[in-house]
Amino acid sequence: MSQGNEKGVPNWILFLFMGTIVLGGLYAIFMHGFLGYNQDNAYRPGYIEPADAGCTFADIPANTAAARANGEATYKNVCAACHGQNMEGQIGPSLADAEWWHTPSPAPVQDVACIVVKGVNPPKTKGNAGPMPARGNGALSDREIFEVLYFVGSKNNSLVTNQ
Ligand code: HEC
Repeated sequence: MSQGNEKGVPNWILFLFMGTIVLGGLYAIFMHGFLGYNQDNAYRPGYIEPADAGCTFADIPANTAAARANGEATYKNVCAACHGQNMEGQIGPSLADAEWWHTPSPAPVQDVACIVVKGVNPPKTKGNAGPMPARGNGALSDREIFEVLYFVGSKNNSLVTNQ
């Protein structure tokens, strides 16, 4: 009767079955990306907007050579374990590239300072990176945070530190 196969499953059922698998696969790739590589798109709406960051800084130090030197020392002590000796990224993301997860790029230094003050906790953490501890767990003053960021900015043009 049917010409599908020996067990008599009609061709249109096989066609429907295969079609469902193919469409399901295409849907999964479209929504989640191939191997999940476009998670950014799903995440991006949750990033900390400058408007809702809500940090005010009374004491913003000047971006001097001395400030950057202090910042380099603090970076090595507090941040390097998670962001890499050369800011290349470890547990935390690279701070040396132009990709900013939690602020537009190029990144205004005050926005980035606010990220460091508050840290990043779920649900705003990205992927499996894990939380960013407030003040890097280093109990840093606002001044020390700006100094670190002046140092980072001296290696990364996408962090706008001139004021
Ligand atoms: C215990 C590990 C850890 C330490 C220490 C740490 N960070 Fe992070 N940091 C992270 C992680 C993890 C993230 C990513 C959070 C997320 O989105 O999931 C992050 C995110 C950030 C971001 C946001 C990056 C972006 O692309 O928007 C900045 C800026 C940052 N850290 C700066 C610092 C600075 C400066 C220090 C040192 C004062 C520091 N961090 C110390 C783990 C750490």
